Amino acid sequence: MDRHRDPTEKRRLNKYSKERGAVLNMKIKEIRLEELNPEKFITEKVAEIRSIVGDGLAVNALSGGVDSSAVTLLGHRALGDRFKTYFIDSGLMREGEPEHTVSLFNDIGVTVELVHAEDTFFGALSGRTDPEEKREAITQAFYRDVFGRLVRETDATHLLHGTNYTDVEETVAGIKRQHNILEQIGIDPQKAYGYKVIEPLIQLRKSAVRKIAISLGLPEEICNRPPFPGPALAARVIGEVTPKRVKIVRMATQIVEDQLSSTGAFQYLAILHEDRVTGVREGKRDYGLQIEVRCWESTDAKIGSPTRLSYDLLDPLAERLTTEVPGVVSVTYNITKKPPSTIEAI
Ligand code: XMP
Repeated sequence: MDRHRDPTEKRRLNKYSKERGAVLNMKIKEIRLEELNPEKFITEKVAEIRSIVGDGLAVNALSGGVDSSAVTLLGHRALGDRFKTYFIDSGLMREGEPEHTVSLFNDIGVTVELVHAEDTFFGALSGRTDPEEKREAITQAFYRDVFGRLVRETDATHLLHGTNYTDVEETVAGIKRQHNILEQIGIDPQKAYGYKVIEPLIQLRKSAVRKIAISLGLPEEICNRPPFPGPALAARVIGEVTPKRVKIVRMATQIVEDQLSSTGAFQYLAILHEDRVTGVREGKRDYGLQIEVRCWESTDAKIGSPTRLSYDLLDPLAERLTTEVPGVVSVTYNITKKPPSTIEAI
């Protein structure tokens, strides 16, 4: 494996944390990885969920990522049959992801109901090109339209959500409005959507959530899964998010994941650009699509550096993207650090 970590990462992380600490007025206290006792944490959270929900019913959305998977098991431990888990198919997920996640959880004894909401999400995103507006549209489609309806249908009083410490930090700092942040930006879910939100993982960063997931007995595939954003492939489409454009980025994502999973990098992704560029195919001009590839070294997504990929990895990647994804004539590899870049494109 031809990959070298950025030697300046530790220094940059310390500097970033100090600067952020100074500007952020975080009301939530982080539980650091080294101070986390997973068994104690799980026992406390299960008791807390039971006491908050009381005799009521609660629901959650499972995406198959480590955060929502851990919340799914905590909710089931706490509430048993009074907890219902849904997989919301927004039309923005990766190839085969909805069916695979539902069957993986069925195998470990957790029933997950697949909810088709593709039209709701594409309707909300139609005509929008501004990144924050797209994020806002996804939040409303998710919390107001889809969960508002599910909560009414089931008489649930609470939604359990896998919001983690980094999600809150990025939103409070004004970097990005994470799709799952409500109260920190002034939305009262009870007033706005008719249910309360419980966020059992809010004091943990991703590495600590992975430790909880292992303790809960989740399969390795879930515990070690690279992060995937709540807004899903919409976070990787620059410009309007349409079914046609999501299909392109979905194909590119599958190729990037196939080719780069062996790197063990923190996260790797494909982005579809809005600008077209002139290319040439079969001796003729082809005004085609551009895909940008990003591959990140990071420990918790707070800061990151591009993985120093070798051309032995980059060459076949470009070859597959330009031959297997219709219309792609240009593939670029992003060499920017976070900051100033962010991990996702929107
Ligand atoms: P950014 O792009 O802000 O991403 O550098 C940091 C980490 O968070 C993920 N991400 C999200 N996760 N809801 C989430 O649950 C979101 O709205 C969201 N946006 C970004 C991203 O994949 C990376 O791991």
